[in-house]
Amino acid sequence: MVQTLTILGLESSCDDTAAAVVRQTDGTPAKILSSVVHGQTDLHSAYGGVVPEIAARAHAEKLDICVMQALDEAALALGDIDAIAVTAGPGLIGGVMSGVMCAKGISAATGLPLIGVNHLAGHALTPRLTDGVSFPYLMLLVSGGHCQYLIAHGPEDFTRLGGTIDDAPGEAFDKTARLLGLPQPGGPSVEAEARSGDPKRFRFPRPLLDRPSCDLSFSGLKTALMRMRDQIVAEKGGLTRQDRADLCAGFQQAILDTLAEKTRRAIGLYLEQTPTEPVIAVAGGVAANSAIRAALESVSDEMGARFTAPPLALCTDNAAMIAYAGLERFRAGARDGLDLTARPRWPLDQTSPAMLGSGKKGAKA
Ligand code: KG4
Ligand code: ZN
Repeated sequence: MVQTLTILGLESSCDDTAAAVVRQTDGTPAKILSSVVHGQTDLHSAYGGVVPEIAARAHAEKLDICVMQALDEAALALGDIDAIAVTAGPGLIGGVMSGVMCAKGISAATGLPLIGVNHLAGHALTPRLTDGVSFPYLMLLVSGGHCQYLIAHGPEDFTRLGGTIDDAPGEAFDKTARLLGLPQPGGPSVEAEARSGDPKRFRFPRPLLDRPSCDLSFSGLKTALMRMRDQIVAEKGGLTRQDRADLCAGFQQAILDTLAEKTRRAIGLYLEQTPTEPVIAVAGGVAANSAIRAALESVSDEMGARFTAPPLALCTDNAAMIAYAGLERFRAGARDGLDLTARPRWPLDQTSPAMLGSGKKGAKA
């Protein structure tokens, strides 16, 4: 029998409070009926990073408003919903708890089934929501909180090929912007400066390129940048616009070269297992960087893999991806009870060793 499922999704694991409604009829593409995101950038901008307590309180205040808005925009009532999906981790624990408690409250009041979703699975399944990509496919998650290569075999079946052992690239962009007095979020400001810079003037390290794995490390780049900045200041008394642009260009080029080379390796490993019609999908805020995106596309072409990246609003944190991941779990028969717990760490691939580090945006799992 053909089934139509309508899922309400909630997301609150970092600094975006979000709710969305996604619907899918078997055999047809999923549709996003609404997707509401309330960002918290303004609340945290004075502190140079996300403050977990402020984030949790803002989520608790905004979640019910987001849910009502998402239902309104979809022109639906809770009675039209089949299940509630909520991010149950990984992330900043206070925020994740706010979402889980809100979803439990709705579930207890309405009797709707509850589905806990792994936030990273939400990102990793987005190419299925936006492009109908079939399993298996290779995925690069690259944002302010995440950086990992995954093979997606099924809605809850992922193999991690490698990931960052310290900072995520977005985090490195944000720290670089802070060191150079550029506005947050750092990615877009550093990219804009880099356009008029010379990427060869300063030689940044290419961390872990000498090792054969797909693991990455970005924390050394900001130390290198700080040293270069301090040296210019010591020699000339300050930075010129050109100095700043050249530092940004050199830094961005180091991230780009590292991601391009590790992506080449990840596609190689993927092709060993899945040589037919390989697909690589990229998601996360850093995928918005046009130079990095172009480099990843060109590596994919060179390796004979199809490159796809969801639209930016679905690359960054949102609840449509959580509703969709919940829909896939629900369809497969998964149900959670009111004992669902919020998890600060929750690796997608339970078999690979734990990654090190936990950055300003929470555990990278
Ligand atoms: O996916 P996202 O919205 O949030 C999570 O981190 O989960 O990603 C935000 C990150 C920020 O660190 C931001 O600086 C970075 O993505 N970013 C960029 C660009 N746009 C956003 N990094 C490099 N270049 C960009 N154009
Ligand atoms: Zn995320």
